[in-house]
Amino acid sequence: MRIEEIRLENFRNYARLKWQPNPLINMITGGNAQGKTNLLEAIFFGFTGHSFRTNRDREMIRWSSSFCRVEIDFWLDEQHNSTVILLTAEGKKQRKLNGKSGHTLDPLLLPVVFTPDHLLMIKGSPEMRRRWLDQELGPLQPGYLACLRRYQQVLAQRNNLLQKIREGQRTRQELEPWNQQLASLGTRIVAWRCCLLAKLFPIVREIYAQIGGKDEKPGFSYLSSLPLERATGETEILERFFGELSRRCNEEIARGQTLVGPHRDDMVTTINGQDARRFGSQGQQRTMVLALKLAQLELGKRFTGDYPIILLDDVFSELDQNRREQLVGRIQGKTQVFLTTSLSTGWEMSVLSGRKITVLDHVLYEGG
Ligand SMILES: Nc1ncnc2c1ncn2[C@@H]1O[C@H](COP(=O)(O)OP(=O)(O)OP(=O)(O)O)[C@@H](O)[C@H]1O
Ligand SMILES: [Mg+2]
Repeated sequence: MRIEEIRLENFRNYARLKWQPNPLINMITGGNAQGKTNLLEAIFFGFTGHSFRTNRDREMIRWSSSFCRVEIDFWLDEQHNSTVILLTAEGKKQRKLNGKSGHTLDPLLLPVVFTPDHLLMIKGSPEMRRRWLDQELGPLQPGYLACLRRYQQVLAQRNNLLQKIREGQRTRQELEPWNQQLASLGTRIVAWRCCLLAKLFPIVREIYAQIGGKDEKPGFSYLSSLPLERATGETEILERFFGELSRRCNEEIARGQTLVGPHRDDMVTTINGQDARRFGSQGQQRTMVLALKLAQLELGKRFTGDYPIILLDDVFSELDQNRREQLVGRIQGKTQVFLTTSLSTGWEMSVLSGRKITVLDHVLYEGG
């Protein structure tokens, strides 16, 4: 996929912008608060209909404006496409793909984004890692998102029932049909996650070796709330799911909560056998997240035959020169890349010299 032209109107600090990016690497430079991240956000918003930095859409509309518009012309499979999104201050959102409302892109073709917040995938709570598993890795498996939505509904209803049993309004017997549904949907989610991780991991290892060096061996394991040990087949997982539900029934009623299942699972990343969250350096953690993200991109390519666009926000800080060079070497030429940096341009130009790049400086836009 390749963006041909981006047009912005009233998006954050951009009154207007019309830009034809380079087909390969686009480096967006400038001091702090110039609108570098805003530009990546606009691209992401144009394709996905939401921001990667806020849940409040309205924040993206330029102050004192009543709407914002993002238009992107792009090439996909040698076909020309266009996407337009209009957002009004009243919260109305209109999206069109090739002039048609209601049409959206295959989720696997949506841009892959890396921002400093993604370090929370390593440093943050298990919820952050589950979000990555569910929103970024999961969609590589057809049916994953539908199954997850159903699981979340069943989970909410089962929790509600557990609370009523605790209060004496309902009986334990009523749990049975919910256990069946919870276990069968939950088993499928756990099995899919394990299977996707098993496919992803060899790619992560290869990318980590390239960017981080051969002396650092990354590893990771799926930490389940079920006693999985080495079980990854659906029949075994299902058996253990039922086992845990009956073993912890009293505790679940006392707490009014479902205590086992994919909504309580986690993932641990290690470097040379040590937990990356507790012992990894900042640069190692960043390298690990990048390796996971880039591996996700490679896996996506196997399914769709095309690489999505890559958006890298402030990716260079905390990486030493060698890692920066290896990273650029890894991504260049595969797909269109947009990267921001507030560092002085001296070394980037030396790393990137001789490569086909465009440097966009903030002076390009009108307004501010
Ligand atoms: N809705 C908005 N309307 C107008 N300006 C906005 C809006 N939202 C944010 N801004 C401006 O955008 C600036 C931040 O832009 P952005 O986050 O893209 O900076 P940056 O170039 O990435 O900086 P850094 O190098 O610090 O990451 C803010 O300082 C703010 O003035
Ligand atoms: Mg920024």
